Amino acid sequence: MAAVLEVRDVSKKFSGLVAVDGVSLEAYEGEAVGLIGPNGAGKTTLFNMISGSIHPTSGRIYYNGRDITSLSPDRICRLGIARTFQIPQPFGDMTVLKNVETALLFGGRASKGGILPANAADICEMAGLADKKGMPARTLGVSDKKKLEMARAIATAPKVILLDEIASGLPVGEYGWATGLVRRLVGEFGLTVIWIEHVMRVIMRTVDRVYVLDHGSRIAHGKPEEVVNDEQVRQAYLGAKVG
Ligand SMILES: Nc1ncnc2c1ncn2[C@@H]1O[C@H](COP(=O)(O)OP(=O)(O)OP(=O)(O)O)[C@@H](O)[C@H]1O
Ligand SMILES: [Mg+2]
Repeated sequence: MAAVLEVRDVSKKFSGLVAVDGVSLEAYEGEAVGLIGPNGAGKTTLFNMISGSIHPTSGRIYYNGRDITSLSPDRICRLGIARTFQIPQPFGDMTVLKNVETALLFGGRASKGGILPANAADICEMAGLADKKGMPARTLGVSDKKKLEMARAIATAPKVILLDEIASGLPVGEYGWATGLVRRLVGEFGLTVIWIEHVMRVIMRTVDRVYVLDHGSRIAHGKPEEVVNDEQVRQAYLGAKVG
């Protein structure tokens, strides 16, 4: 089976600092892939390159076999790759519903088809925001802002969804929301999810495979149970609890 997303030997240098150093990864249709690593490992930078907000210094990125390395964020989004932001970025003065409607328009949902909901109210419900639709986004708490990030990403009718720490900062009681929604996106809608997360007990239970970055380099890859027992991964986290 061909990969839906292939990152091939990608690097990013920021004036002297190598934030991402020759990283390769693949993701297939209908799977959840974890991307973990200590702070500053290069995880978000990798997402920024996949989604086109910055371009790699070297290496290529392919989506369904097509080279998307130099495309703009809106082109990449319209092709079918959506992302959430580590720090939620809603339009603060717009209501939750309006934010989702805007994403529906921006992402070209109408022309994409597919089985994800095509109606803003249904998407709000799917993301757990059914009773917050009329609230201005800036008045939402942390959990609801994360839910709105998810809703806006879903609204673009993606085939691949990049999640940047949607569980971090949530109260423990909300972890089930994140894992439940990811499982649904993958299992029911056949999406490919790549999920950056620091909350190990959440991500390790949910993903099929995990890639581990440290100082910009890929140091491990495998099933969650293999990765948590990897000595290099344990060293990278230096005493932090893995698993
Ligand atoms: N635009 C930029 N200009 C300069 N340096 C940057 C830029 N973006 C990221 N970096 C640096 O690149 C490195 C990787 O950052 P990145 O945000 O990708 O890490 P991360 O793995 O997402 O970390 P965290 O888990 O803390 O979110 C860091 O040293 C960061 O300071
Ligand atoms: Mg990050």
